[in-house]
Parts: sequence; structure tokens; C-alpha cells
Amino acid sequence: MLVVRNIGQLVLPRFDAETGRPRVETIDRAAVLIDGGRIAEFGPAESVDVPADADELDAGGGCVTPGLIDCHTHTVFAGTREHEFVRRIEGQSYAEIAEEGGGIRVTVEAVRRASVDELVGLALPRLQRMLGNGVTTVEIKSGYGLTVDDEIKMLRAVARLRSLQPIELIGTCLAAHTVPPEFADRRGAYLDMICDDAFLRRMANERLAEFCDVFCERTAFSVDESRRVLLAARRHGLTPKIHADQITQMGASRLAAEVGAVTADHLETIDADGIAAMRRAGTIAVLLPGCSFFLGVHQAPARAILDAGVPVAVATDYNPGSSMVESLPLVMSIACTQMRMTPNEVMVAVTVNAAAAVHRRETAGAIDADRAADLVILDVPDYARWMYEPGRNCVRTVIKGGRVVHRRQD
Ligand code: NIG
Ligand code: FE
Repeated sequence: MLVVRNIGQLVLPRFDAETGRPRVETIDRAAVLIDGGRIAEFGPAESVDVPADADELDAGGGCVTPGLIDCHTHTVFAGTREHEFVRRIEGQSYAEIAEEGGGIRVTVEAVRRASVDELVGLALPRLQRMLGNGVTTVEIKSGYGLTVDDEIKMLRAVARLRSLQPIELIGTCLAAHTVPPEFADRRGAYLDMICDDAFLRRMANERLAEFCDVFCERTAFSVDESRRVLLAARRHGLTPKIHADQITQMGASRLAAEVGAVTADHLETIDADGIAAMRRAGTIAVLLPGCSFFLGVHQAPARAILDAGVPVAVATDYNPGSSMVESLPLVMSIACTQMRMTPNEVMVAVTVNAAAAVHRRETAGAIDADRAADLVILDVPDYARWMYEPGRNCVRTVIKGGRVVHRRQD
């Protein structure tokens, strides 16, 4: 048994699905007792019954939160795209660069050249740094292979990474990221290939992916094409997700509601109809403030989405093109200052609601009796202070499944 004692503030994020309101309960001067990797007891220190032989971990009066969940990432990739970063600073837009054959396709070429081992070698240190930022669960999308074999190769890299580091990894098939150049004049044939039963069956049966995502955008796939991909995936037990309303308003968030997508992600250009459709369908909005920060464009209307009672999650969108931002705590700060989300809304968005976004509501994102003990110990006394200090790592210790998996060197 392990007891985490001397906790200055224990953070218990909650989301009330009926009212659509996030809220954070806190317990001051708390303790958490862990047994067999699970939370056995938690509460005010004096109320927790600690066996005499329990090991002790002193939280130093710091704040303790659930392990963070990064529910939208493209962490497996090869190559970098700083030349596009410079072109954007000089005035070109993300869409213009994509239209000129840059963007996603540049990373596709690098990923196609890489072996599974190389992809694993590149992603492993990224995941180790994410762990050091307090992240204990990460969703990772394919989408830079764009052939049957290369998409499977990316998700095999995710599978291999599971056994090499402690973060729980969740795979998403994003074969509908863009039409690869060799199919430029045969879009239909590319769609036939990624909607093919044998391909989708492998994704589901080999547990390579639990979700299927599409980039519904003028430079990628139309609403009708996206619908076709998501309905085919759904028949094979893959849950739909959509990159929706990022640059062009095409009704993608309404499509998310229509096909029963668990999330609609991005939403920088969502309109009132899209927000209402998501609220009715219970679709989770995954907001990606690091992406707009990185591209230097306007943020999603977080306040309108929150105030409508739509559940909101926040993630990094970590990828080499539109969000070379691997730090979820930095993105949490950006959500506060650039989207006017309150620290308690953000705390819920990266725990409880992020867990729901990847179908882990019952197992991750909360501190509850009998749940796996995924905890972050901070060197600050409360969680608002974490977001108040962007760019400084406030994470001292990370616990995954009851085991200390990261200790900051200082
Ligand atoms: O989530 N929007 C589409 N996909 C990624 C960007 C991918 C890339 O540019 O490499 C995103 O922003
Ligand atoms: Fe993305």
C-alpha cells in the first residue's frame, strides 16, 4: 500500500451531464491511500485510515490532480515542418500551404519512408516528456500513411509504444486525413480503399484503433465523403470523431451530431446551429487552443460552446504542421488567457471530459474509490496557479496505476 500524504489541495473535477456544467470540488489537507494500483480511500488527512506498514509519499503541501488526458494528438510522426512555420510568419495561410502541395503531404512522405521502429524511436521521447507534464493517457491518430500498409504501420507503432512506457495509448484511424497525391484525380478510389471492409475489420479486430476520425475541410474531405467514411467505420465498431469547422464552415459539427460522433474537434468556425446540434446530440467539443496559438489565428468560441451546455474537452493536437505543442499544461494556460475558459472549466476539460472523449469515463480522469490511481503531484498549492504559470513545469511527481512513473529532477 502507498499513502500520498501532506496534500495541500486534492482536486476532484466533475461534469454534470444534465445541466452541462463543469465544476471542481477540492479537499484541503488531504491524503490518498492506494492499494494494488487502485485508490482505496481519499479525503481529509485525518479521515483516511492508513495501515502502519503503508509506504509514504509526501506531496509537500502541493496540489494533487487526476492524471491528465490528452484526447487529440498526432504524436506519431516523422520529420518537421519549420519551413511552413516561417512561410506563415511571412504571410501565407495554413490552407494556402496545403493547396500548394505542402502541409500534411510533407509529413506523409516522411512517415512512408520510416519503419515502425523509427516511428517508435521518434515518438518515445515525446511521450516521456508528455508524462513529465502530468499526462497519463494519450490518444494518437494515424493519418500520415494514407496507404493501407502505412496507416497500419502507424498504429502498430502506437501498439508497440504501449509496452515501452507507462502512458495509456488509444489508437484512432485517420486514413481520411487528406487525399494522397497518387489519388488526386481518383478521390472515389481512395475513399473505396479506406471504407473497405477488410481494412476497417483489421483496424477493429487487431485493436489497432477504437475510433475513426476524418478531416472534414475544403482541402480534405466534404461532408458527404466524411459521412461515408464514418458510417463505414461505425459498422465495424469504430466510434466516429471529426476534425470539424476548423478553417471552413461546412456543417461538419452538424454531421458529428448526425452520425453519433463522440467528439467534434477544433470548431474554430462553428456557428450557432452547430452548437445547438452538438448540445442536442451530447457530442463533446474538443477544443485545441494550442493549434490557433501556433498558427496565429482566431480561437474557437469556447464561451459560446460552454455557455450552451456542450461538454468541452481541451487537448494539444500535437502534430508537426498546425500544433508543434506537446505540453498540455501550456495549452491549459492558453485556454484560460486566449479562450477565457476558467481554470475550473479547463481542469474538467483535461480530465473528466477528456476521458469521455476517448471512452475512458469509467477508468480515467477522476479520483474515485476503486479507480486506477493516476495522479499528478504539483509544486504549487492550487490548480489555478498551475495555469497561471505558463511555460514552467509545475509537475513534481506522476503516479500511473499506483506506481511512481516520473519524478522531476531538482
Ligand atoms: O488537427 N487539421 C488537420 N490535421 C491536423 C494537422 C495536420 C498537419 O498539418 O500535419 C490538425 O490540425
Ligand atoms: Fe488534429
